[in-house]
Amino acid sequence: MNTEPHIITTQVGIVGAGPAGLMLSHLLARAGIANIVIETRDHSTIQTTQRAGILEAGSVRMLTDTGVDGRVLTHGHRHDGIDLRFNGVSHRLNFQDLVGESVWLYPQNEVFVDLAAARKRDGGDVRFSVTDTEVLDLESGVPKMRFTDAGGQRVEVHADIIAGTDGSRGICKRAIPATDRTDNFISYPFAWFGILTEGPPSAPELIYANSAHGFALISQRNEHVQRMYFQCDPEEDAGAWTEQQIWDELQKRVDGPDGFTLQRGPIVEKTVLPFRSYVCEPLRHGNLFLAGDSGHTVPPTGAKGLNLALADVKVLSEAVESFYGTGSRDLLDGYSAKALERVWKAQNFSYWMTSMLHSREDQSSFERKRILGELNSVATSRYGQQYLAEAYTGWPHG
Ligand code: DHB
Repeated sequence: MNTEPHIITTQVGIVGAGPAGLMLSHLLARAGIANIVIETRDHSTIQTTQRAGILEAGSVRMLTDTGVDGRVLTHGHRHDGIDLRFNGVSHRLNFQDLVGESVWLYPQNEVFVDLAAARKRDGGDVRFSVTDTEVLDLESGVPKMRFTDAGGQRVEVHADIIAGTDGSRGICKRAIPATDRTDNFISYPFAWFGILTEGPPSAPELIYANSAHGFALISQRNEHVQRMYFQCDPEEDAGAWTEQQIWDELQKRVDGPDGFTLQRGPIVEKTVLPFRSYVCEPLRHGNLFLAGDSGHTVPPTGAKGLNLALADVKVLSEAVESFYGTGSRDLLDGYSAKALERVWKAQNFSYWMTSMLHSREDQSSFERKRILGELNSVATSRYGQQYLAEAYTGWPHG
């Protein structure tokens, strides 16, 4: 067997074909910048992995304005607000009224499908199912990606820039020497139990519910499939729960004097989602640039993960375009600081939503009542509602 790698030269090598990597590839290709994307998973694994379902207004515009596809507008659902529910009472936040924006319910796996289709349509070079991936020579002028392609051929890509968009467990961040990065990290004593259920929606918009029994989120997917979550122990065994137990637990957390009742149906998927907050600083090492989950992770409350990844990619693509257009590295040098501004705002928002909505096992009566005071401060104040609405629908892209 020929073990000599096949060498390919390009401008930008992209590690990871999730939404961040594919969007970066798409934007660079539109600017005439050659790039190759590699991915260890296959297309159908990514397509069928359940992730969050809310797109900020700016994320939707990135998809529609750059010619990815308008499917988000025809198959997604515009939501003009959410319900914040506590003490069994719902308080609607009307985003249009508060900040003149909406969000779209359109699951991340559909965003992936649209981006992958757009890259295929436009002749993009996206290689799924690669193995033995490495990034090397990151501090040199010719950083490289090495991998074995789906056909067994060893390949080495020589580039000017490598983008690490390979998620929270990817190889790129770990390729930065520990002495050259700061890992900012916190863990939480809870997780989410997520279900997909068949049946009609229980509510027209999302309900974020705080209760003495813990948090619940009532979300949707379409007319026939719904998505819901409830706070659970990180070690919870999803398989041990019967449908009846799951529905009773969810219902308990949304019970109230209005008699709100969940629409029960067959549960077709159950998973436990871990909770972490993490930021790698800086988001750069030599000619490696991290974007999305590969550089930072937020807990799911508020659905910032994908939106933050797309915002990073916008900043990074502009920096790369500027480099090729002018020869100046200024925007590349400023990428990490610029992206981190939004990252830390989103970290704060996700942490705040998480702390305000979840309960801790050892919670004192003081803490329980303080949280209710906090929820009340938000729900009964236009200023409080506006902060939440602005962060939830997404700060303007710079
Ligand atoms: C969904 C997930 C979230 O984390 C969130 O805050 C809102 C919606 C979802 O999967 O639908």
